Amino acid sequence: MSRDPSITLAREVPILEGIGLRKHFGGTRRLIGRSSPTVQAVNDVSLSVRRGETLALVGESGSGKSTLGRLLVNLLSPTAGDVFYEGRNLGNLPPARLNQIRRELQIIFQDPFSSLNPRMSVEAIVGEPIWLHGQQNRRERQERVVELLRTVGLAPELASRYPHEFSGGQRQRIGIARALASGPKLILGDEPVSALDVSVQAQVVNLLEDLKTRFELTLVIVAHGLSVIRHMSDRVAVMYLGEIVELAPVDDLFDAPLHPYTQALMAAVPVSHPSQRRPRTLLGGDMPSPTAPPSGCRFHTRCPHARALCREVAPAFEEVGGARRVACHFWQEIANAGGDRLLAPAPMPALRKRLHLFNSHSN
Ligand SMILES: Nc1ncnc2c1ncn2[C@@H]1O[C@H](COP(=O)(O)OP(=O)(O)OP(=O)(O)O)[C@@H](O)[C@H]1O
Ligand code: SF4
Ligand SMILES: [Mg+2]
Repeated sequence: MSRDPSITLAREVPILEGIGLRKHFGGTRRLIGRSSPTVQAVNDVSLSVRRGETLALVGESGSGKSTLGRLLVNLLSPTAGDVFYEGRNLGNLPPARLNQIRRELQIIFQDPFSSLNPRMSVEAIVGEPIWLHGQQNRRERQERVVELLRTVGLAPELASRYPHEFSGGQRQRIGIARALASGPKLILGDEPVSALDVSVQAQVVNLLEDLKTRFELTLVIVAHGLSVIRHMSDRVAVMYLGEIVELAPVDDLFDAPLHPYTQALMAAVPVSHPSQRRPRTLLGGDMPSPTAPPSGCRFHTRCPHARALCREVAPAFEEVGGARRVACHFWQEIANAGGDRLLAPAPMPALRKRLHLFNSHSN
């Protein structure tokens, strides 16, 4: 029997897709004094999130992870570019439909203490989205809260207590219960475990993984640390100064990081055995300000492999086989050299074309 092609097509539509996303903050003109500089928090990022996957966004502080995550779940509107949810452009939807979609895109925060209203009981915190959803019957709402608390591993008797009466891990569970109360399809976890004790982190990661399977969720996880990412994600997008510099399935990224910035992040991950040690890539200096990003490749001021071309021409975010993409003029030579030495450029057609462009540009 032949398959209905529309079913295949529907399955292939990513749950979320950002195209050409930019988010610039500030840049306002003042009548008196200097105008504030524009912060290029996210700069021309295109990224899709596949249904059912866990996609991680990693990078140093200030690289734009939270801003990109918030753009994707419509908590921020882009300066330019579009976000598509299940194929629909969120920028063109009527407010009622957008509100409905917002319920399907939930967020859990790094610090559950500041994200939970201290004056509301757990019952009110978790029950509020259910009430907003239209469930006016108090008894039914309470039953749903009890069910959600059990789902996240909290005793229902705790429903009358307030956030300050809980530990960090318990508060994060309350935040997760509140997110689940809206019946989400996708959850953005913005550093969901980094404020927790190491012993509690694994419990919350395991809970998120269980919930993902049970409720068929898609997860986008923002994280500094690569260890959490390795454990729980399917694909990883590495961000530097507002741009994605490498996107790869998690095992490929850990086995052979291609971008010098990813290599530097990996070199900082502790390994359990000396044989697993990677060549050291030194990451000198601080990340430049996103108000005045470097020309060409934004990483050139810190990259040990940078050459003249890098200062002038921004590398394309090119597909490099399989499901991988990388933004580096010299990724192949760096990979050939084992990541820590740069060999003379191989006669690659793509590189020759870029060098030609660069030479004609500099003349
Ligand atoms: N509302 C805002 N107004 C002005 N600048 C902002 C705003 N939000 C973020 N930024 C700036 O945008 C850049 C990216 O910030 P963002 O919070 O997305 O980074 P991040 O990768 O999540 O960092 P962290 O790991 O510290 O949370 C930073 O330079 C930040 O100061
Ligand atoms: S393009 Fe140049 S500066 Fe940028 S990462 Fe590659 S080698 Fe380094
Ligand atoms: Mg952040």
